[in-house]
Amino acid sequence: MMKKWNTKDVKRTLPERLSDAHKGTYGTALIAAGSRFMPGAAVLSAIACMRSGVGKLEVGTEEAVIPYVIQHLPETTFVPGFYERLENLSFDQYRVLAAGPGREADDETEITVEAFLKTDIPVVLDAGALSKRSYQKRQGPTILTPHPGEFLRISGCEKEELKHNRQSILSNFAVQSGVTVVLKGKQTLTAFPDGEVYENTTGNSALSKGGTGDTLTGMITGMICCHENWKHAILNAVYFHGACADEWVKTKSAHTMLAHEINDLLPEVWKNLE
Ligand code: APR
Ligand code: MG
Repeated sequence: MMKKWNTKDVKRTLPERLSDAHKGTYGTALIAAGSRFMPGAAVLSAIACMRSGVGKLEVGTEEAVIPYVIQHLPETTFVPGFYERLENLSFDQYRVLAAGPGREADDETEITVEAFLKTDIPVVLDAGALSKRSYQKRQGPTILTPHPGEFLRISGCEKEELKHNRQSILSNFAVQSGVTVVLKGKQTLTAFPDGEVYENTTGNSALSKGGTGDTLTGMITGMICCHENWKHAILNAVYFHGACADEWVKTKSAHTMLAHEINDLLPEVWKNLE
């Protein structure tokens, strides 16, 4: 069954920022993102995450990427020697784990994903962290955020088939794999492992530009930290991501938006829905 996620759903489900909160209240997220030739994806996802309600953020990345992130986001910290120490790291202290933006689907990314999936913590997988694999049952949700090309790769589905039966294919995949899938594009669909599918009602082609997916990954990660209900967090993140682009085209050409500008638009777009 397909439902739409619209403004009144967002208003009903957005969390309040508790007046007696401290940074521990909203948890620490870990994002494993960025590589030597795609450092910007780490910057974009990290800023998006910290703008989305999280308490603290740690970035797991290559040493070469760290200065870029710090320059744009002095608020974040880093896991020392992330890839060198990966197999010995513990992740219990985190509220959400995310991987993939600015990563190739290489051995290091795969080891990261395997380690994340061994935990009971919510895991968000995007870009290079998306591979064909089977998912064991976990306590926390496993959330995949493919664009159609990535979905074809991880599902083995045919392009024409996906085009004509987006909803049922996505829903079957989510139910059978026990994961949540955010299939990005015009009218992003989110399918949950219980069979529910939601269509997003915001967004426009200003978003069809490199980097906007990395921003969405950060937003989902951050929002899970400040929402009690992880499903609402995902749906609200997708909604806000599109709503920022809708805000942009009110006064500016759809050709011109840059992914990092979503992060600049979010505070006002969010405020207007509180
Ligand atoms: N209408 C509405 N939303 C759109 C549209 C459109 N016409 N086109 C794109 N979008 C939105 C999608 O819904 C999604 O949220 O823009 C975002 C694009 O995300 P990605 O396709 O993941 O793009 P991005 O990751 O930023 O750029 C390329 O993806 O293939 C990987 O690793 C590769 O780093 C590369 C990256
Ligand atoms: Mg992407």
